Amino acid sequence: MITVKVPLQEAERAKQELMRQGYFLSGYSVQKEGDHLYFPVKERFDSPYAFEERALEARPEQPQGLRETLKGKLPADVLGRLKTAYDQVGDIAILEIDDKFKGYDATIGKALLDTNPKLRTVLAKATGHEGAYRTQHMRLLAGEDKRVAVHKENGVSLIVDVEAVYFSARLSTERKRIMERVQPGERVLVMFSGCGPYTCTLAKNTEAEEVVGVEINPRGHELAEENSKLNELTNVKNYKGDVREIVPELGEFDRILMPLPRSAETFLDVALGASHQGTIIHFYSFLHEDDYAQADTWIQGVCDRAGRRFELLGSVKCGQQAPRVFRWCTDVKIL
Ligand SMILES: C[S@@+](CC[C@H](N)C(=O)[O-])C[C@H]1O[C@@H](n2cnc3c(N)ncnc32)[C@H](O)[C@@H]1O
Repeated sequence: MITVKVPLQEAERAKQELMRQGYFLSGYSVQKEGDHLYFPVKERFDSPYAFEERALEARPEQPQGLRETLKGKLPADVLGRLKTAYDQVGDIAILEIDDKFKGYDATIGKALLDTNPKLRTVLAKATGHEGAYRTQHMRLLAGEDKRVAVHKENGVSLIVDVEAVYFSARLSTERKRIMERVQPGERVLVMFSGCGPYTCTLAKNTEAEEVVGVEINPRGHELAEENSKLNELTNVKNYKGDVREIVPELGEFDRILMPLPRSAETFLDVALGASHQGTIIHFYSFLHEDDYAQADTWIQGVCDRAGRRFELLGSVKCGQQAPRVFRWCTDVKIL
């Protein structure tokens, strides 16, 4: 059977993510060998971990997923169309439930609390990400009526307000990818830094000399400051305001992150202004897989206008937004 090979220290988080995405195959024991665990999965998928064919021992079905728990509690056609995958931010679960199933909110929320004892609150997304702050409205399904939780990832604790500030737990793998690229002594700029998931991850896990975050949402900035303190980080500076006004005052950086995929291209001139020869820019975008080179074209245009040159280091998919539309990170070096 197909297994996914996960380092021991990432096992808990990886297992939760496999279950959340619906790839975990229950009914088999997990194998341990050396520093790795082998989790059974239903199929191969876009994963940061390697796959291996292994024979795992069958064991009786035990833990119930949300769908199983809801059997008999919802009409079969509702259950059939219900999305049971959810995001987990600390002890808050966030589901995506079609408005037409609103009448079943309490039943679904209660069932999820019964399924996952680590949860205290179950919310449903009431809107998509909207406005300049890219925030989402949520409605309570069950549990404690709260929006703030402490989320742990990549060795940092983050106080997150899931309704007032953008945050995606699914991006922890991408944050780790960037963290593994930061070199000792670098000065790093995180534009659009939110409540600080990138700034904290990089400051905590690398030998960057300084990590600077700029965020326009006052609540995001406030939490970024709290999160720097919570993680006892002394090499982070958070600025509140528009990157267009603040970044030109901050000097040059060795690495610049631009995690605003819907419109980061309109700020490429700001990033270029803060770049020297050798600066690496991580540029995020939402693009169809047939059209991902559009990101290079945007970067080329800005460099041409400024009389600068760049080298394309690579483009990676770091999430899916719609069928065949992905969140891309295009990595370039300014020459
Ligand atoms: C997609 S979110 C990413 C937040 C954070 N980096 C994360 O990954 O959780 C983009 C963030 O950019 C902020 N933002 C939008 N326009 C901005 C601007 N002109 N200057 C500074 N921040 C901005 C929004 O408030 C939002 O928090």
